[in-house]
Amino acid sequence: MAPEIRKVGVLGCGLMGSGIAQVAATSGYTTIVREVETAPLTKGRAAIEKSTAKLVEKKKLSGAERDAALARLTFTTELSALVDCDLVIEAVPEELELKNRLWRELDGRCPAHTIFASNTSSLTIGAMAAATGRADRFVGLHFFNPVPLMPLLEVVRGLLTSRETLDRSLAFARSLGKEAVIARDTPGFLVNLLLIPYLLDAVRALERGVGTVTDLDLAMRLGCGYPMGPFTLLDFVGIDTTVRIAEIMFDEYRESRYAAPPLLRRMALAGLHGRKTGKGFYDYSVDPPVPLELN
Ligand code: 3HC
Repeated sequence: MAPEIRKVGVLGCGLMGSGIAQVAATSGYTTIVREVETAPLTKGRAAIEKSTAKLVEKKKLSGAERDAALARLTFTTELSALVDCDLVIEAVPEELELKNRLWRELDGRCPAHTIFASNTSSLTIGAMAAATGRADRFVGLHFFNPVPLMPLLEVVRGLLTSRETLDRSLAFARSLGKEAVIARDTPGFLVNLLLIPYLLDAVRALERGVGTVTDLDLAMRLGCGYPMGPFTLLDFVGIDTTVRIAEIMFDEYRESRYAAPPLLRRMALAGLHGRKTGKGFYDYSVDPPVPLELN
């Protein structure tokens, strides 16, 4: 029987990595986050401090719980600091070779019981598992943005993921206070399989002049009770990220509903990536953001 998960390593301290590290630490795990440079670690730590302060303000976390969580967190640039983790969750950019380089290095140094998990939204879990000698202890843990607020965790079972790894992953998801769903290792898993065609359809509707950005957003918020309309969500997820996920899904399924519409591709190429670049379907340089005028 594998030892209990006590120490969690997180590879990458961007938006997702810092959020994952935050929920692991607030759920009682000793957590160590690794980045290649100190700048993203500093930024990630500030995001965690801001987010936990907000949760304290909203009484979702006590001041003492916040302090204890921050004390459980370590930030490092050393990969070797993760070798005694019971679970390593990877949230680095979506480049297979980059991820596999990290997995290969850790595979030789982590103990046999360590579970490797990827937060990938678009790559195949099996393609990472194959780079290691522990395909049975390799799983997908797909979190949603913003990680501290979104209650879902997709647990992705690769072709060779063992029942024990799946059970340990489900127990881990519950310990984070997340609701878990199990997905097979196919592009889009469960959520993006449905979400991406919906977002692409909204762009196609805009291209055809069916409605404006504001009206289509309002329609889905007020007509369907979605917390964000499709264009606000596209800007939130990232236009570049959405195009990339769509491309991978289209490659696999060859169905037109997964094909990124020309407008979205052009926005990605023009650097209009949404909130992270300050401009997407909306212009975030003003508060509240206004629809960006696109030719
Ligand atoms: N930590 C703590 N608090 C946070 C936070 C964070 N990371 N992010 C936002 N908040 C707080 C805000 O500060 C705000 O506090 P306030 O009420 O005191 O102002 C509160 O949460 C509510 O936020 P907002 O008022 O800005 O807006 P909402 O009420 O709409 O809530 C939301 C924000 C939870 C993000 C909600 O809009 C929502 O659920 N949106 C949909 C998000 C979604 O669909 N995510 C999934 C994307 S797909 C994905 O991630 C998969 C990938 O593979 C593509």
